[in-house]
Amino acid sequence: MQTNFRGRDFIGDLDFTKEEVETVLDVAWDLKRKRALGEPHALLRDKTLAMLFFFTSTRTRGSFEAGMAQLGGHGAFIDSETTQISHGDTAKEIGEIFGRYFDGIAIRQCDWDFGNKYINEVAKASRAPVLNMQCDVYHPFQCLADLMTIHEKKGRDLKRKKVVVSWAYAASYSKPISVPQSLILQMTRFGCDVVLAHPPEFKLMPDIMQQAKDNAQKYGVGFDVTDNMDEAFKDADVVYPKSWGPMMTTTGKDEGKALIDKYKSWITDERRMKLTKEDSIYMHCLPADRGLEVTDRVIDGPHSVVYDEAENRLHAQKAVMALTMS
Ligand code: CP
Repeated sequence: MQTNFRGRDFIGDLDFTKEEVETVLDVAWDLKRKRALGEPHALLRDKTLAMLFFFTSTRTRGSFEAGMAQLGGHGAFIDSETTQISHGDTAKEIGEIFGRYFDGIAIRQCDWDFGNKYINEVAKASRAPVLNMQCDVYHPFQCLADLMTIHEKKGRDLKRKKVVVSWAYAASYSKPISVPQSLILQMTRFGCDVVLAHPPEFKLMPDIMQQAKDNAQKYGVGFDVTDNMDEAFKDADVVYPKSWGPMMTTTGKDEGKALIDKYKSWITDERRMKLTKEDSIYMHCLPADRGLEVTDRVIDGPHSVVYDEAENRLHAQKAVMALTMS
């Protein structure tokens, strides 16, 4: 049990060691149990969290806000467009000022080649811990909830479980690469064999890939990359197919859309799910482009765990908030 969390930021998945993530999950299970039993757990009474959003959100906003209330504190929703940020408030000023008003600052800023730098700049100036609600590089709270869900469905010992992180087609927009990046960083520390599948133009950041490879070597697990979705799905225990943009190839909107449209066949349907193990689970952070990323029959079908996965955002986030902000 690692206990040195008070006052610490959580911006990248590897900011917490493997043992610290185990502690976070331990606390998350306890808080989930307490909520199920209706046991009060006001660990952050009178504490406040600034929740600064530069992008829209359903799950992240809802779970952080509900989580703070359940912990006896208050989460203040702040839409960046209603602030003076566009009129000149700098990242340093946000860190200095909100760090004095609040006991924690949570930020979602996903702008490519900017979001992570912005969050780190706020953190440098803030006396209160800074929590990453998703940036251009990481989505660490999503990944904690994903790990919790995999443990819930597949047991704590993930040795030799095949976890597939796959690109999928979506028409809506060029989605951030933060979810697959967080997944390959965190899952390679927890015993499972990770397979990353994507078309050639949808690579992840080289330094993130290197860190995932280093983790795989350190923890003695597999980390393979393929451009064949069917091959990846074969005998998988967990599949996590989602869309992301070709930012490592192009940041041009039209060029990016043309690349995405080349791979409309990358959909998760019942034929593909039949390639996986009989008791495999289908995961998605949501929102999903139904009918394009995944068929209704899969996302609403027997393999899907998307609602339990979304619920676990609440418990994992409460655990980190209670540990860092108390
Ligand atoms: N998964 C996730 O982060 O959902 P939102 O974008 O709705 O917060």
